[in-house]
Amino acid sequence: MNATPPVRVSAGVPESGLRVLREAGVEFDVGGLDLAGRRALLCLLTDRIDAGLLESAAELLVVANMAVGTDNVDLDCAGRLGIAVTNTPDVLTDATADLALALLLSAARRIPWGDRLVRGGGFTGWRPDLGVGADVTGRTLGVVGAGRIGRAVAERASGFRMQLLLCSRSGGVPLGELLERSDFVTLHVPLTRETHHLIGEPELRRMRRHAVLVNTARGPIVDEKALVRALREGWIGGAGLDVFEDEPRLAPGLAGLANAVLAPHVGSATVATRSRMAELAAQNVVAALRGEPLPNPVLRGARR
Ligand code: DGY
Repeated sequence: MNATPPVRVSAGVPESGLRVLREAGVEFDVGGLDLAGRRALLCLLTDRIDAGLLESAAELLVVANMAVGTDNVDLDCAGRLGIAVTNTPDVLTDATADLALALLLSAARRIPWGDRLVRGGGFTGWRPDLGVGADVTGRTLGVVGAGRIGRAVAERASGFRMQLLLCSRSGGVPLGELLERSDFVTLHVPLTRETHHLIGEPELRRMRRHAVLVNTARGPIVDEKALVRALREGWIGGAGLDVFEDEPRLAPGLAGLANAVLAPHVGSATVATRSRMAELAAQNVVAALRGEPLPNPVLRGARR
């Protein structure tokens, strides 16, 4: 047996992915990012795959990221070195779109507030003014980014008879107009240099005072400090956030805001979805080692 298995699995990858590797007869070990002598890395979105790491991996063929987003990988460097990068699209679309809707509904109807009230013994009986929130049905939803997840959210929203405004690179309404006209705004763009702080103070100030911002994409798409001010000073009505700018840390003040619903980056966190993501990432590793076409290339790579 080779002293250094060809595949390093960084950590925490569900068993279904490890099974794919075993069934393909691929040797691997689990734990950390030491890539010396490795042909493939199966990693998580919390692993920072930077230039220093990639440059230390002379034999690496592929970085298989168990996520649809690949902003944790230095793609420029991987491209320059000829290292392939793969992701796990499609399998998490429905789960993530479901969570975006859940956050939107939770923020509009103040569900976490109600939960805390009931548990804390503060529910003393029905009152006409107790827990009143915002309507969702028939309101306007602005979807920023019309990829798979954005379209899946729009599909769900049409079940609530929401009016849809879409803004994407390939068309739709301009972002400013979407922000001015929407009652709810949901973000579904990848994190890139162009989308970093796409929603900052000027954009938040353009939103309607009752509007709710939902982010299940990546934290740094929103300037979180500006968002805290927007929520505190009433530039917007609320937020539903599954991702944070400096995860897992929160911007000062965010945790104390009652008009923000916060979730711990669980968009794709269903048993079946996480299991499919791990399988897909492992299938990309197996294909790379066999010199077969990669199922989900973000970068095809040039090393053999
Ligand atoms: C992704 O895949 O990029 C999500 O953020 C985690 O499921």
